[in-house]
Amino acid sequence: GADPRLKEVISILTKHLHNAVKEIEPTHEEWFAAIRFLTETGHMCTDWRQEYILLSDVLGVTMLVDAINHRRPSGATPNTILGPFYIEGAPHYPNGANICLDHKGTPTLVRGRIMDVDGNPVEGARIDVWQTNDDGFYDVQQKGEQPEYNLRGVFASEADGRYWFQTVKPRFYPIPDDGPVGKLLGDLHRHPNRAAHMHFIVTADGYDEIITHIFTPDCPYLKEDTVFGVKKDLVADFQPIDDPDMAAEFGMPNPFVMVDWDFVLARK
Ligand code: DHB
Ligand code: FE
Repeated sequence: GADPRLKEVISILTKHLHNAVKEIEPTHEEWFAAIRFLTETGHMCTDWRQEYILLSDVLGVTMLVDAINHRRPSGATPNTILGPFYIEGAPHYPNGANICLDHKGTPTLVRGRIMDVDGNPVEGARIDVWQTNDDGFYDVQQKGEQPEYNLRGVFASEADGRYWFQTVKPRFYPIPDDGPVGKLLGDLHRHPNRAAHMHFIVTADGYDEIITHIFTPDCPYLKEDTVFGVKKDLVADFQPIDDPDMAAEFGMPNPFVMVDWDFVLARK
């Protein structure tokens, strides 16, 4: 017989789709406009541009699917959206290295610990970080313009769980808005901007993988992230420091910005 899960999924989708159509009462022209939109969305998709994921993101569906699949014990760092700009193969650096290779932006030190939910340090966790440059573009969006692997790096936590690295303060940037999803946002008078963030994937043997961000507290889009990715537990303190002694202690230029951020892993 037919796959019972498939039957269930299609039956629920059909029920809700019929209800939506009954409530909307679309004209034939409106229904064809919807078909045209979905067709254009498919035509926009390539190996490196997934317009349907963008659609899922701006409708809040991606965050909903994540919430259903990643219920964590309280105290553990929550997930948020992966986004389309992660690539494997970023350079492995020792703690303290600077991932900003284009020397633009506000120097920022990120430091903290990787811990379990009981507060024990986790040694040898893998911390994979990526973010846009100070112009709001990922390296992969500006191949040839930005250095390869600009603002990407992989770090490992020390025996006491600590990790630290240098970067620049992230800025808000628009999701790719030159396709049908961008046009939809424009038609709805919705802006395309993501609240300023840094991405992380944190993994350690025996623990649930964390795919998350940290957000700056002062971004104008913090309360209206276009993909609904902000969680209050992911907003970090980006502390401005103007202190030559502290700068020297941390090997930073003065002034700089400091972020203290711990990741808390849940056991599998
Ligand atoms: C990100 C970018 C997107 O275009 C998107 O839809 C979701 C997330 C990001 O890089 O954070
Ligand atoms: Fe991003």
